[in-house]
Amino acid sequence: MSLWLGYAHGAARGHITKSPTLAELDLPKPSYQEILDRDGDSVPDVLRTQQNPIPPTAPVELARYTSQAFFDREMQKMWTRVWQFACREEHVAEPGDYFVYDIGRHSVIITRCDDGSLKAYHNSCLHRGTQLKPRGSLGHSPLIQCPYHGWTWNLDGSLVEVPCEWEFPHIDRDELALDQCRVATWNTLVFINLADQGPSLGEYLEVLPEHFRNWDFSGWRTSVHARKELPCNWKAAQDAFIEAYHTRLVHPQAMGTSGDVNAQHDIFGDHVSRDIVALGVSSPLLDEPLDDASILQQMLMGDAAVMGERPSLADGESARGVMARNMRETMEQFGLDVSGHSIAESIDSIKYTLFPNLFIFAGLSLRVLYQYRPLGNDPDRCTFDILFMRPNPPDQPPLEPATVVHVSEDGSYSDVPGMDPGFAEVFDQDTAILRAQRDGMHASKRGVATFSAYLESRLRHIHNTLDKYLNA
Ligand code: FES
Ligand SMILES: [Fe+2]
Repeated sequence: MSLWLGYAHGAARGHITKSPTLAELDLPKPSYQEILDRDGDSVPDVLRTQQNPIPPTAPVELARYTSQAFFDREMQKMWTRVWQFACREEHVAEPGDYFVYDIGRHSVIITRCDDGSLKAYHNSCLHRGTQLKPRGSLGHSPLIQCPYHGWTWNLDGSLVEVPCEWEFPHIDRDELALDQCRVATWNTLVFINLADQGPSLGEYLEVLPEHFRNWDFSGWRTSVHARKELPCNWKAAQDAFIEAYHTRLVHPQAMGTSGDVNAQHDIFGDHVSRDIVALGVSSPLLDEPLDDASILQQMLMGDAAVMGERPSLADGESARGVMARNMRETMEQFGLDVSGHSIAESIDSIKYTLFPNLFIFAGLSLRVLYQYRPLGNDPDRCTFDILFMRPNPPDQPPLEPATVVHVSEDGSYSDVPGMDPGFAEVFDQDTAILRAQRDGMHASKRGVATFSAYLESRLRHIHNTLDKYLNA
């Protein structure tokens, strides 16, 4: 594991700036740690960890979101050199299963070989370059055949057939194996890296494996998979799901039942950061917090985080305690032993960010993946995938992963089969604001953004990590 040394204050990106320390900030109460104190149960050490060096607070140039030249540098120097989340192992479970992962103009076919290993190939024919599998596709085929003239490869990448072979006395079959890129897995997730050299996935993941020791994703399947093309830069899309500063205006319905400006934001390394939002508490921005009975009632209305029987509040119980108990009982029906899970692990939004394209939630009620990618060569467009996971039913063969449902830019997530209506409303609200932000960025005279010290600290952190790649 690489040792992350944090920030030399004022030095990043050439700015001299005075940044506060975490201790100097007057953050709202209750803090996430105080909410854990009130829960009074035993939580894993990783949830008691707080680490945020407050990256320098200098303004951030909007051209980093809008400029074609900046986008081109990102593609050349970052996206081609990082480990990025492509799919889950369930998408390529059997020999011959394949999944096409596209990033900008790059495209990779991930497939399961006959010996059970995974391989990833550049999605380009060695005859005259034709794409071997359609972008964004997945399926099953025991051979990889080009749709143009029929050159055909085995799953292990070896060339098996060149039609009219007498035309090619000059080729060496062994030299025409498909070009590979690196592929590796962690916790049921499949990652690819377009660079042949560089850190292993294990090194790249920093603290993630250690933090996820309690949170094993095997036995969980993708139950809902929604994909939406967004009219904004990929970083703007991510930003919207990192900070809860926008909750008051964008998601007013959530103010009674979730923390927002008192979320905890941690930075663990160049690639890994985290936020934890408490559920079953009111926002500190409300004049009066709701009582527990009202919180419980509101949480149950939207069905968010609830499966199975609707619970009620007993004497002395907190809304958080009831929701957590209900969630654990529901998960036990799936055959999971979650008796040792704390209230926080059972219901809170515990979301890790792995640079550059994955957000991964650790909780029981919210076990979700977000994936963000630039789309084609356009700095103003990106693809946003949401994968909800649910445990496989016990004593049955694993269910197939949910098919990818495309949501149009003006469409609603409520049309995605199986999507919880409460989440659909939140995703609609989050994605609806992004076109206005993009257009406003292009209209800016000043050309810079002024991020907050703490709630938006990780937005700046991601820019700083990006700079390490751009300047390498
Ligand atoms: S381009 Fe692929 S077989 Fe001709
Ligand atoms: Fe949001």
